[in-house]
Amino acid sequence: MASEVETTQATSYEEAAKYWSTVPPTINGMLGGFACISTTDIRGSKVLLKQLFKSQNPPNKYYALDCGAGIGRITKYLLSDLFEKVDMVEQNSVFLEAAKNYLGPTLIEKKIGTMFPVGLQDFKPEIGKYDVIWVQWVLGHLTNDDLVDFLLNCQKGLTNNGLIVVKENITSSVEVEVDEKDSSVTRPMGLLKELFVKANLDCYRVTKQLNFPKGLYTVYMFVLKPKIQKSD
Ligand SMILES: C[S@@+](CC[C@H](N)C(=O)[O-])C[C@H]1O[C@@H](n2cnc3c(N)ncnc32)[C@H](O)[C@@H]1O
Repeated sequence: MASEVETTQATSYEEAAKYWSTVPPTINGMLGGFACISTTDIRGSKVLLKQLFKSQNPPNKYYALDCGAGIGRITKYLLSDLFEKVDMVEQNSVFLEAAKNYLGPTLIEKKIGTMFPVGLQDFKPEIGKYDVIWVQWVLGHLTNDDLVDFLLNCQKGLTNNGLIVVKENITSSVEVEVDEKDSSVTRPMGLLKELFVKANLDCYRVTKQLNFPKGLYTVYMFVLKPKIQKSD
């Protein structure tokens, strides 16, 4: 029997890009009409990152990468607050253009490095550049194979002690759930963890996001480290 990892998916990059081109470059647009959860979301992420900074062998606080960054909601309220520099990667260049206004001239000048207008399936980070790679609410747009390749590439982009944080919706069943509207999937926990293993990542911490409204998917944060830590 085929494992869950091998099952085919409905993900289409073209259809997804078409969908996102109809979405306004606003917080509400980024969050599917749930702008109200942004503050709680950022608060939960900040608690996690601050705990990670206090852990053994913490990541440095110099350079972060925001993946599937949209207009820069996470860059603005989370990453630019905790890191010296932030790069963004996002398939929709209209969102990145809007991010310049949304982030404002001070952040753009002082904190933002490069904005990469490219899909994660085609993105290869510079080797050894990032202390934290933040990937939120975007992996449902990647096929299983591309997700694994993307995470393998991300590992190469990490500094020593660098880590990847994935924050994603998770199904309550063991099935992959397809969203025809934006051509994405929501994966069950087991499948996502299987893909992390395939990408040679150690999932050393899983934290549930608290205080989201009822009726939404459960959201988890996965802290991922390369199985073989780099040495100097
Ligand atoms: C639900 S929004 C989340 C935006 C941001 N991560 C946040 O939490 O505010 C999903 C974002 O992923 C982007 N996206 C969709 N498919 C992508 C892909 N293949 N590569 C990179 N970004 C993608 C969309 O354009 C959109 O900006």
